[in-house]
Amino acid sequence: MDVNIKPGSKLTALQVMQDAPVIPVIVLTDTRQAVLLVRALVAGGIRMLEVTLRTPQALACIEAIAREVPEAVVGAGTVRSAADAQACAMAGARFAVSPGYTHAVGQACRDAGLPLLPGVATGSEIMMAQEDGLTELKFFPAMQAGGPAMLKAWSGPFGDVRFCPTGGVSTANAAEFLSLPNVVCVGGSWLTPADVLARGDWAQVTALAQQACRLSRE
Ligand code: 3PG
Repeated sequence: MDVNIKPGSKLTALQVMQDAPVIPVIVLTDTRQAVLLVRALVAGGIRMLEVTLRTPQALACIEAIAREVPEAVVGAGTVRSAADAQACAMAGARFAVSPGYTHAVGQACRDAGLPLLPGVATGSEIMMAQEDGLTELKFFPAMQAGGPAMLKAWSGPFGDVRFCPTGGVSTANAAEFLSLPNVVCVGGSWLTPADVLARGDWAQVTALAQQACRLSRE
């Protein structure tokens, strides 16, 4: 966790990926819950996190986290359009994650000063992202699209690309992904299960974050 996270400082996609072995993928509906949850993650050693734009409250939650938990670095996930990129930057997101890649989303993120981890699942998508200068990519949906074997196959032709596999990653397979040389970190929702959030079990969230931090990256 050596990244300069001062509000306003610019990050690279690689810095986003290198901060911890896991980027939690979070669905939020309540700003108060958002703040408490993120404090619990930070207490467990995870400060780089992705709030998905999947609920009407997502932008307000990003805003609340950016304002009230400055020691965290909040990014926006599920960014699918230029408008999403602009809106999440305005809300205080420091990076963007998308389930796929379009040149328009890439351009909007550049314009907004947001590092982008775009989702790719095929060689053509990797090449399209590379055409726009992106070499740190999210492999999504990782398990469904081929899992660790796919990343091993890509390490030949796309040896200059580094990945954050996301989708179907869990404590059962995170270590296997992280052992691959072209994987920097993984993403996943298992650090913030809906039932744990619903009952406000922040100690459990901290414990899950601590466990995630112990995953080794070789
Ligand atoms: C998502 O789309 O929600 C993320 O990829 C997380 O997937 P997961 O719930 O399988 O970790």
